[in-house]
Amino acid sequence: MASRIGGCRRPLLLLFLLSLASQTAFSWKQDEFRNCNQTPFCKRARSRKPGYCTLIADQVSISDGLLTAKLIPRPIPNQEEGGEDHHQIAKPLLLSVSIYQSGILRLKIDEDPALDPPKTRFQVPEVVVSEFDETMLWLSRVSTETLDGDSAPSSVVYLSDGYEAVLRHDPFELYVREKSSKSRLVSLNSHQLFDFEELRVKNEGEEWEERFKGHTDTRPYGPQSISFDVSFYDAEFVYGLPEHATSLALKPTKGPGVEYSEPYRLFNLDVFEYLHESPFGLYGSIPLMIAHGKTGKSSGFFWLNSAEMQIDVLAEGWNADSGLSLPSDQKRIDTLWMSEAGIVDAFFFAGLGPKDVVSQYTAVTGKPAMPQHFATAYHQCRWNYRDEEDVENVDAKFDEHDIPYDVLWLDIEHTDGKRYMTWDSVMFPHPEEMQKKLAAKGRRMVTIVDPHIKRDDNYYIHKEAAEKGYYVKDSSGKDFDGWCWPGSSSYLDVLSPEVRMWFSDKFGFDSYKGSTPSLYIWNDMNEPSVFNGPEISMPRDALHFGGVEHRELHNAYGYFYHMATSNGLVKRGDGKDRPFVLSRAFFAGTQRFGSVWTGDNTADWDHLRASVPMILTLGLSGISFSGADVGGFFGNPEPELLVRWYQLGAFYPFFRAHAHQDTKRREPWLFGERNTKLIRQAIHVRYMLLPYFYTVFRESNTTGLPVMRPLWMEFPSDDATFSNDEAFMVGSSLLVQGIYTERAKHVSVYLPGDELWYDLLSGAPYKGSQTHKLVALEDRIPAFQKAGTIIPRKDRYRRSSTQMVNDPYTLVIALNSSQAAEGELYIDDGKSFEFMQGAYIHRRFVFSNGKLTSLDLTPNNKKSKFTSQTVIERIILLGHSPGPKNALIKPGDGKVEVGLGPLVLETGLGSSSSFVTIRKPSLPVDKDWTVELV
Ligand code: NOJ
Repeated sequence: MASRIGGCRRPLLLLFLLSLASQTAFSWKQDEFRNCNQTPFCKRARSRKPGYCTLIADQVSISDGLLTAKLIPRPIPNQEEGGEDHHQIAKPLLLSVSIYQSGILRLKIDEDPALDPPKTRFQVPEVVVSEFDETMLWLSRVSTETLDGDSAPSSVVYLSDGYEAVLRHDPFELYVREKSSKSRLVSLNSHQLFDFEELRVKNEGEEWEERFKGHTDTRPYGPQSISFDVSFYDAEFVYGLPEHATSLALKPTKGPGVEYSEPYRLFNLDVFEYLHESPFGLYGSIPLMIAHGKTGKSSGFFWLNSAEMQIDVLAEGWNADSGLSLPSDQKRIDTLWMSEAGIVDAFFFAGLGPKDVVSQYTAVTGKPAMPQHFATAYHQCRWNYRDEEDVENVDAKFDEHDIPYDVLWLDIEHTDGKRYMTWDSVMFPHPEEMQKKLAAKGRRMVTIVDPHIKRDDNYYIHKEAAEKGYYVKDSSGKDFDGWCWPGSSSYLDVLSPEVRMWFSDKFGFDSYKGSTPSLYIWNDMNEPSVFNGPEISMPRDALHFGGVEHRELHNAYGYFYHMATSNGLVKRGDGKDRPFVLSRAFFAGTQRFGSVWTGDNTADWDHLRASVPMILTLGLSGISFSGADVGGFFGNPEPELLVRWYQLGAFYPFFRAHAHQDTKRREPWLFGERNTKLIRQAIHVRYMLLPYFYTVFRESNTTGLPVMRPLWMEFPSDDATFSNDEAFMVGSSLLVQGIYTERAKHVSVYLPGDELWYDLLSGAPYKGSQTHKLVALEDRIPAFQKAGTIIPRKDRYRRSSTQMVNDPYTLVIALNSSQAAEGELYIDDGKSFEFMQGAYIHRRFVFSNGKLTSLDLTPNNKKSKFTSQTVIERIILLGHSPGPKNALIKPGDGKVEVGLGPLVLETGLGSSSSFVTIRKPSLPVDKDWTVELV
């Protein structure tokens, strides 16, 4: 939650905070935050005209496997240096291009260290994974080509079998093109909007300061922004750039007929009561854009830069009279990228389809961590569960109402005066016992640990951090002191590896008193949120490790904090327990450390709907483990909205209910029997599908693909899916359509592809490539299994997922038009890192010609093994005509009965129809076998 208190003095501040705490209804205060016009670098860059660039790539050569060049100013005819339409760089810039396996190009542009810049510009460390560096291809050859209409030559280098990169020397431009057709894919500086403000030393009397709402930013090195244009070819839409509450396909922000007047802002902020539809930047930032078009092909662009960024998507015709010519036979989307500081460190992804691009991006920034199994189940949270008795009651009620849940969360009030990693001794006198009671039922607890540290000499964390000099400094060099929940607070300088190491040790059981092995962590307010800071955050001239200014690092602060916390949990468990850490702020690479949620949403239908494009965008940007607060954080949802939210949330990768402290209690049993039943059913659906979810999480962990996917990722050539963000896929087998309106009578759902889709719970078949108008049912939202797939389930409901470990599986085979289907099942110990040594079961199930085969997908050279005694107890065939009476099992001569049975056992959830069912085949889940219908 954010409060707006710019410039207040302490006592007033306290009064203000108290008054805030008692208020419930606020709305987004736009003028607390800067718009582009109030942000000088954005205003300048946005007002430039095409042709602004004055650069030439000079001294182009190959050196150490890279293509290198110097960018030098080009003489401007009839124009004063620094005139309004042009900006001349003072010193040549260094450019390098490197290429990597699978068609990734990296471009770097920075100041030349040999020319004595006042300091080294910031390059974000520890985002690009070391494995990626190892995939660099050593360039040894560059060819030259004179492009049509150019007088100077261009350099061409190999990128992959299908693509090559072209560095045009004069004027400077870089693009990726297809080798055979020469058609372009992605280009930079085609409109010559590139600009680079070099660092300067202030001369006497120069005025560089920037002011906003009573805050002054000293800007000691002068303006240092960078901007350029990027174009995507054969593109219908662009996607990405989380975090905004907006449509999945990004709307244009500049040019004729645009709806938004602001660029997409990437600046991690604690935005109180954010709007459900706005280009305004929220808690996290990932400067990644993916373009997709009717050819079914995708491309991507990622700028590794953690300073404030603003990105315009330019509407067709934005440069109508610029006189520039670019290929007219390719539909193009132009974009303008502007950042306050840092360097150009950009990656071009030339994928074939959307899955290739996401896999390329996650080859650079890392694959999503494999979560513990419990974390994929349902989480119950509230600000706040008051005391131990409250915790005990809530826990007991879940059992009483037969609703499974896995994790109970404690918000800030559980601490001793917001000193994190302590307990309120009156409310929580026996924290260990409390966690052990939950653990006995296979349940976990999560506590919140925020980055603001109470400046109290009696608080061990503050005392040590202050003594060791581990805090971020203000511009005068003193420990930065800002206001947050505990009052006066300082912030750990998590850019420093030493500080992160020290902080991660604080999660050890000996240090975090009252913590036990079943306790996991929630990082909140890590944008960082500073109630009395500019835009409720840290001043940009605050100083970090190595003299890095906060402006350069801002968007990655929360990332490093999340990293330290996650590493702390790994250490705490001696490297044997996968961490679970939820974070509100995020940056590129966050997927390696944990999950993310979409912050303080509101209990209304618009926010329910907005949650889908937000989670889809996170998934496209590598963060596959994310969710939105089920029920909405602010306000009190009507029971119908709450039920619909549970029904949708059951398909979010991260499924947690949460609510603001001023809202009415809303645990699932508080809205009458009927609603309790509906919520129970929604949660049961999630538990039933846990084996499928876990298998998809593993796919995500190995490939980088999202768990929750836009339809076009699975159907890249179907343009009817390109802007659909009301429906989504979970993995590649399941399609879900939310219901986003009150008292909906009908719901329309578009089912792509040529095959049938089977209703997840009734088994009813629906044709593909059609929009179906369905009756909106009270007890579910539409969800379908794609014909041709096999989904593994567990159909017995327990108190928690842990208690389901040894339960048998059901396989649901949805047959396609060739009476065939395929699917996978991944199982491991759900907890340790042993799976990385091969300790897992991974089966592929293939059904064809009336026979189901289970194949082993694990590698031969595994160092560790995982076995399981669990069996498959039921196999249901959708789309198979009744007839077969028996099934033969091999190896052995087993024969089991085939009959008709329900799709779902729970009464009320399924339909009365019956489907061909192989009963009690008791097939071992970790062995090869076949089952043949006879
Ligand atoms: C803001 C978070 O977004 C919210 O989820 C949490 O409940 C409050 N901070 C209090 O910690």
